[in-house]
Amino acid sequence: MLAQVETFKAITAARVRKVYETPSGPVEAVAEVDFEIARGDFVSILGPSGCGKSTLMLMIAGLESTTSGAITLDGLQVSGPQTDAGMMFQDPTLLPWRSVLDNVLFPIDMRGAVSSESRTRAESLLRMVDLWAFRDKRPRELSGGMRQRVALARALVNDPRILLMDEPFSALDAITRDEMGYALARIWDTTRKTAIFITHSIREAIFLSDRVLVMGRRPSTIIEDVRIPFERPRDPSIEADPRFNELYLHLKASIHRTTGVQ
Ligand SMILES: Nc1ncnc2c1ncn2[C@@H]1O[C@H](COP(=O)(O)OP(=O)(O)O)[C@@H](O)[C@H]1O
Ligand SMILES: [Mg+2]
Repeated sequence: MLAQVETFKAITAARVRKVYETPSGPVEAVAEVDFEIARGDFVSILGPSGCGKSTLMLMIAGLESTTSGAITLDGLQVSGPQTDAGMMFQDPTLLPWRSVLDNVLFPIDMRGAVSSESRTRAESLLRMVDLWAFRDKRPRELSGGMRQRVALARALVNDPRILLMDEPFSALDAITRDEMGYALARIWDTTRKTAIFITHSIREAIFLSDRVLVMGRRPSTIIEDVRIPFERPRDPSIEADPRFNELYLHLKASIHRTTGVQ
């Protein structure tokens, strides 16, 4: 029975703590974080700058070790870099000399494993992110939003079990950012990957997520865990729903409690 329940937990964190050793002494980035994320859930993390959100994400990806505590992906403890995690960051980090299609294929190319099958997959991902017409362009010929859509296609090209996104839209202008949010919701609906999405935008978090976690100020723990009840697929019109505003005010108040702003 227990084992059966376990298999539905795509990501778990149990008493996860992270202390960075620095020349000026130890920095406790994450004090103690516990959560369980069900397979297929989209979970956003909100929290003040420096509270350890990126550190937590790097630990889930196995790119940083935990100082204590354990993280599991599909029941297996994370103990090194996870090839099964697709990642996106604020900076799309595209290779300027490669075409859009070859940037999407890069993670496969790095393993020397490009096949006609992977090429077909990359092409269908480019159609999904509306960049098919741009497949042969170089990154410099694209707008910021388009570059992030290339990064999203690249994050999905290995068909990862989880998608980890660390403020992917933070460098975009407000209008492009909204459009990217809607595009991600639409794309996510077709893939339903278990996803963790770090953002500073409460509205973005509500619109995209099944659950929103709020991290408190460093040394941090999770201080709020809110379920977002809207059905999918979601339409931008839910932002006019009174429940959307209630959730917004609730999350805003809990973030302000942690930062001390009234
Ligand atoms: N590689 C590192 N070495 C030392 N300290 C770090 C390192 N990465 C982050 N920190 C520190 O850990 C804390 C949490 O950082 P971070 O996880 O980037 O927070 P957030 O993403 O929420 O802004 C900050 O005080 C930051 O300065
Ligand atoms: Mg960060």
